[in-house]
Amino acid sequence: MLFLEGIEYRIWDPRRSKLGAMVLKKFEVPLRKDSRVLYLGAATGTTVSHVSDIVSEGAVYAVEFSARSMRNLLGLADRRKNIHPILADAGRPERYAHLVGAVDVIFQDVAQPNQAEIAAKNAARFLKKEGFLLLSLKARSIDTTASPKQVFKNEVKKLEEAFEPKFEILKARELAPFHEDHLGLIAKIRVSENEKI
Ligand SMILES: C[S@@+](CC[C@H](N)C(=O)[O-])C[C@H]1O[C@@H](n2cnc3c(N)ncnc32)[C@H](O)[C@@H]1O
Repeated sequence: MLFLEGIEYRIWDPRRSKLGAMVLKKFEVPLRKDSRVLYLGAATGTTVSHVSDIVSEGAVYAVEFSARSMRNLLGLADRRKNIHPILADAGRPERYAHLVGAVDVIFQDVAQPNQAEIAAKNAARFLKKEGFLLLSLKARSIDTTASPKQVFKNEVKKLEEAFEPKFEILKARELAPFHEDHLGLIAKIRVSENEKI
């Protein structure tokens, strides 16, 4: 952290943050100062703190299921009033539905075999119709035998077709060299033909 003429500057390391890597991969990150963000897989809060900086008048609902990581996250939330830490399994959104309202953005970084399903379950409950899903997919958590490219293709297809809501993928790029065998993607809820009329 560095202060210059009263302004605080912080280093955002793309090797420690999938979102940081997505910024360098030229994703248009749809965060505004008043955005409400559901962050799944908060860990100790490294990237959550950067999101908190950006959404200075908004809120970050930071879900993490490791009690150990949550301890650090609680310290961070004490210092930053727009962070709301939630100790819960991101695969069970019904358990924190009473704490989180409609959100503009879901950011997800959980290393789980059913990453696409977790994203869809949370989007169904919390994502505004015009909101965005930002997702980091880790190939090795899904399938250790198939090639990462094949895993990504399957997961994208699942996001497009397998769950409710179905997503329209706006951009997908691998996050190497910052994170090997990870795909970053940004998606919107697909509007059905009936709804377009
Ligand atoms: C790669 S780390 C996240 C790093 C973090 N996004 C950052 O940039 O600072 C993945 C985190 O997701 C958490 N996680 C994995 N599965 C989860 C689940 N089902 N519900 C909540 N947290 C989960 C893990 O405990 C771990 O802390």
